Amino acid sequence: MPDLSVDQFQKLSQHIYQKLGLYFDDKKIYFLKTRVARRMAALGIDKAQDYVFMVAYADPEGVEMQALANLITTNETYMFREYEQLQAFANHCLPEVLDAKQARGQKTLRIWSAGCSSGEEPYTLAMILQEIFPQAQSWDCSIVATDIDENMLQKVEAARYGARSVNDVPAEYRKKYLMAVGDEYVVRPRTAALVETMHLNLHDRMAMRAMRGFDFIFCRNVLIYFDDQSRKSVVDHFYNALNPGGYVFLGHSESIGRVTTAFKLKRFENHLVYGKE
Ligand SMILES: C[S@@+](CC[C@H](N)C(=O)[O-])C[C@H]1O[C@@H](n2cnc3c(N)ncnc32)[C@H](O)[C@@H]1O
Repeated sequence: MPDLSVDQFQKLSQHIYQKLGLYFDDKKIYFLKTRVARRMAALGIDKAQDYVFMVAYADPEGVEMQALANLITTNETYMFREYEQLQAFANHCLPEVLDAKQARGQKTLRIWSAGCSSGEEPYTLAMILQEIFPQAQSWDCSIVATDIDENMLQKVEAARYGARSVNDVPAEYRKKYLMAVGDEYVVRPRTAALVETMHLNLHDRMAMRAMRGFDFIFCRNVLIYFDDQSRKSVVDHFYNALNPGGYVFLGHSESIGRVTTAFKLKRFENHLVYGKE
């Protein structure tokens, strides 16, 4: 285990915070040590001091920060997570937005899964969209799945999942949208085709400014790892990225009431969603 002192830990966590928005308090020193140990071994660096110096001063392109990001993010996810919230999306918000678009003669729908991890969330949204709106195929619909972790994006592209990921998928959805291959499940091509991946750091201001024109943004179980200041910056970008009439969905334990009043809070089936008027 590297000899990461409290000072070095604080310096490193400050850099991580600046670059990724992720906040590691002093209780996370052991966790960070184990990840730093792996990076030091991969790079052949013996002293923690040298590693911290390298990340702070000799990583202008952020290559090492990206390698570290791939190791320190929490990627826990599964399909149909927070089912009741998804029902609010399927039964209320999605039909409302689709009706408004149809009334305006528009045939595009853009959904963003921000912090998509290995893809269970965007594929869940693709299944729901096809179920609720069979015409999706004749519209220009896309679900943009973004994450900072490159390993996760590869998993999204593989679209292949173990039993744990699909445990909560209702039986009729499983039959229609997934194919059993051995003891795994592969997302059927028509459903997979709705999802496109993009590497994106939610803390990268330039990249976030380019995200525009979304009808729905799902950012569930991501903001819990940020502090209020990073949360505010991310949700301000979400506001600008959202079309009027669109909605942001957060994880059930996440609230942004403290950091912004821009959204209109709406309740559907006991779930709060953030709308843009
Ligand atoms: C716990 S998973 C959530 C997955 C999914 N949204 C869900 O609710 O099941 C959190 C994801 O956020 C991503 N993440 C953390 N910090 C990020 C950042 N600064 N930019 C982009 N993604 C980030 C992690 O890589 C991870 O895959």
